[in-house]
Amino acid sequence: MIVGFIGFGTVSSSLSKILIENGCEIISSSNGRSLKTKELIKKLKVNDLNNFNEVAKNCDILISANTPSKAVDIGKNYGSLTNNIFLDLNNISPTSTNEIGSMVGENFVDGAIVGNVNNNKSVIYLSGEKADKIAILKDYGLSIKIISNRIGDASKLKVLRSIYTKGVSALLIETFEIAKQLNLEDELLNILVITEGDNFRNSSKSRIENSVNQLRKYGEVEEIVDFLKQFENVNIEFIDSMKNSFKRKF
Ligand SMILES: NC(=O)c1ccc[n+]([C@@H]2O[C@H](COP(=O)([O-])OP(=O)(O)OC[C@H]3O[C@@H](n4cnc5c(N)ncnc54)[C@H](OP(=O)(O)O)[C@@H]3O)[C@@H](O)[C@H]2O)c1
Repeated sequence: MIVGFIGFGTVSSSLSKILIENGCEIISSSNGRSLKTKELIKKLKVNDLNNFNEVAKNCDILISANTPSKAVDIGKNYGSLTNNIFLDLNNISPTSTNEIGSMVGENFVDGAIVGNVNNNKSVIYLSGEKADKIAILKDYGLSIKIISNRIGDASKLKVLRSIYTKGVSALLIETFEIAKQLNLEDELLNILVITEGDNFRNSSKSRIENSVNQLRKYGEVEEIVDFLKQFENVNIEFIDSMKNSFKRKF
């Protein structure tokens, strides 16, 4: 089994480590990429081809894990070039996912990574007619769950999850900003631990730290809001207002 990656950062290297340990061959290209990417490819002894065209043509499964803003172009350029399956794992909206699907055709599979990719506990959620062709990677150590045969379902699930997690983070940021001004931060944390459990002390701290001053998350809320405009009876203003919390400096 040969798996090709377009982009070789945190996601691709973490998945590759598992796949290599379980007997999979990995190919990618460091041509024109940053030193960080080149080093990751070298460290894992990934087969480093001349360019991504070659990667697309020489793998059984092609995975796109690069950057949300380039995902549609990458789908267009390389997803259509491979004769095999093309899986997108970027954090993109269902609208962009469907755009890739319409260009790539029946070989396209929609994917969402749920959980932390670094600790080997993440699960890849898949949707699309050919999702079962990716599910074979279970035999190579990955955790995979197929949710439906419809392109876009994995991305929609990603949006729903994102609304929830970003909402919780925004609420924490705002509540603790008020507590700070009242000089009651520690006491607030102590009383919340009583109802939310011991884990809350660390989880809330890391949520706040990972969310303040995060322009990327601000942009992600804007994308979510764009997607939600097609629905009736959704409190879009409420969801839109969350983005302001991610601009705060704590
Ligand atoms: N990290 C996570 O936990 C996680 C979880 C779920 C989903 N995702 C999504 O998965 C994708 C990858 O995330 P990551 O954390 O692995 O990012 P990352 O560590 O920043 O790695 C991105 C990789 O893609 C390469 N790249 C960027 N633009 C490219 C282009 N136009 N053509 C080819 N390669 C390109 C980068 O190369 P350079 O180094 O040269 O820029 C780098 O090798 C993102 O869309 C992210 O939203 C990430």
